[in-house]
Amino acid sequence: MFSLKCFAIIIALYILTQLTPPLVAYVYVKFTNIKCVSYDKAFADFRYCKLKALSPNKVALFLHVQLFQLPVNNVSINLDVYRKANGYRPFLFNKTSDFCQFLRNPKRIPLGKILMDIIAMYSNINHTCPYNHDIIVKDFILTTQHVQLLPVPTGDYLLRISVGAYNEFKATVSAYVQRVED
Ligand SMILES: *[C@@H]1O[C@H](CO)[C@@H](O)[C@H](O)[C@H]1NC(C)=O
Ligand SMILES: *[C@@H]1O[C@H](CO)[C@@H](O)[C@H](O)[C@H]1NC(C)=O
Ligand SMILES: *[C@@H]1O[C@H](CO)[C@@H](O)[C@H](O)[C@H]1NC(C)=O
Repeated sequence: MFSLKCFAIIIALYILTQLTPPLVAYVYVKFTNIKCVSYDKAFADFRYCKLKALSPNKVALFLHVQLFQLPVNNVSINLDVYRKANGYRPFLFNKTSDFCQFLRNPKRIPLGKILMDIIAMYSNINHTCPYNHDIIVKDFILTTQHVQLLPVPTGDYLLRISVGAYNEFKATVSAYVQRVED
């Protein structure tokens, strides 16, 4: 029998759940794969391009790009983002920028600045052109703080970064990233 007391408890529980803030889901983001291709090995090649799993949710990215025609002072970057849904589909945007110009004034491309501020901490790329050294990314681990900067739905993403110099595409880095909520 459905007593009044039982009903009161249910109402009380309902009010309680409405008052307590919802439990914040634990969010994490990690690299799941990386692929690097050089289209002009006389210009640039990859000494390595790899991921290293430190724990199930913590994956570090390592990249070493050798540059053979120094100095490099004409760089363009295309960032193409895909999200997985029956294969990888274009997501958000596909943008090509003059990278040397961007480095002179990062604030002009707010999303680019956010990404650069992150990558700068793990690499030697954060300076204005020219580049007269190899490009090295070391121990780049995505964290929940990075997710907060770039709030996107959970899922699998592909960030395809194509790098050109002197109006020719030279290399592509495809980074696969997964955002999960528990
Ligand atoms: C993004 O732009 C590049 C260069 O214009 C093009 O080659 C590529 O196919 C585009 N990607 C998508 C998903 O439209
Ligand atoms: C990147 O370089 C710019 C300009 O020199 C500097 O303001 C910024 O703090 C650097 N970012 C990092 C993460 O070192
Ligand atoms: C980069 O090089 C290409 C080919 O030499 C040239 O057409 C282009 O104007 C250069 N870009 C800049 C910003 O100097």
